[in-house]
Amino acid sequence: MDHGDAVKNRGDLRALILEVRAAYARGENAMEFLRKATGDASNSVVSTLLAYDLQAGSYVAGARANPQGRERWCGQLAQLLAPYMPAQGSILEVGCGEATTLAGVLKVLGTVPQHALGFDISWSRCSEGLAWLTENDVTARLFVADLFEIPLEDSSVDVVYTSHSLEPNGGREEQAIAELLRLARHAVVLVEPIYELASPAAQARMTHHGYVRGLRQTAERLGATVKDYRLLEHIENPLNPSGVLVLEKGNRPAQAAGPAPAWRCPLTATPLTDVGDALFSKDSGLAYPVLRGVPLLTTAHGVVASKLGV
Ligand SMILES: C[S@@+](CC[C@H](N)C(=O)[O-])C[C@H]1O[C@@H](n2cnc3c(N)ncnc32)[C@H](O)[C@@H]1O
Repeated sequence: MDHGDAVKNRGDLRALILEVRAAYARGENAMEFLRKATGDASNSVVSTLLAYDLQAGSYVAGARANPQGRERWCGQLAQLLAPYMPAQGSILEVGCGEATTLAGVLKVLGTVPQHALGFDISWSRCSEGLAWLTENDVTARLFVADLFEIPLEDSSVDVVYTSHSLEPNGGREEQAIAELLRLARHAVVLVEPIYELASPAAQARMTHHGYVRGLRQTAERLGATVKDYRLLEHIENPLNPSGVLVLEKGNRPAQAAGPAPAWRCPLTATPLTDVGDALFSKDSGLAYPVLRGVPLLTTAHGVVASKLGV
């Protein structure tokens, strides 16, 4: 596991892992606990990982408890995504959590993608997600990755979307959007809380939690073409108002699907080959293991294994 900026040394990380587990068991908010413990106003990737991993299972429980609400949310997203999906295309949910949104979207998306992918920083959430996909008879490839170093080639996914996963990454909006634009062939669809369209009470809450802001301005600064920008009709929590920001990339017609998404090493950007129990880069000699069906693809997971391919 990467220490991240907020965790300076091994001792800090050891203490943080044990303390946040104890805090969570006492019923405390894990993210809040980690922000206080690290003295950081924003959420580091390692804090996001620790906090969200502890909560694994809660989204599946939520989807079971409120199937109508889930359907409405996923239907709303599918409507936003459909115009950008080519026939036989590819789609990726960034920060897919337990795949409760991904599964619902894939069920109702008119155009069935040939390649559906989702990743999250938390293995436990991906693992819950795999079970949820199976239960819902939906096929998608789930893997562990960090949205700031996505292990896929440039312009290799037709449509890249988020559903509240940029949310906790306040302060790193530019790196996040640039990475998603790098990956997308046709469009990036961000479904995120929109600070600038939120009420003062919601803005205060977003600031408190270290949430993203200025998404539209950031995307425009990066040269993206903004096609849609508004709050959504169906918002689950008015204090965290979901909006959409659609960024179109290039002029290629949405009818043209590209080749299958290609893996690349998150550290060296060299091609990765799926060898069953690992994804392996012949050029760098790095292997990324697969844990119970979920490839682990952050730089911290790389194993120096020059002989694996021999
Ligand atoms: C609010 S949840 C939303 C999950 C899912 N998109 C959904 O709609 O149910 C945010 C998710 O984003 C993931 N996430 C946040 N930052 C991430 C990062 N840097 N890399 C990968 N995943 C991240 C978290 O682990 C968490 O599962």
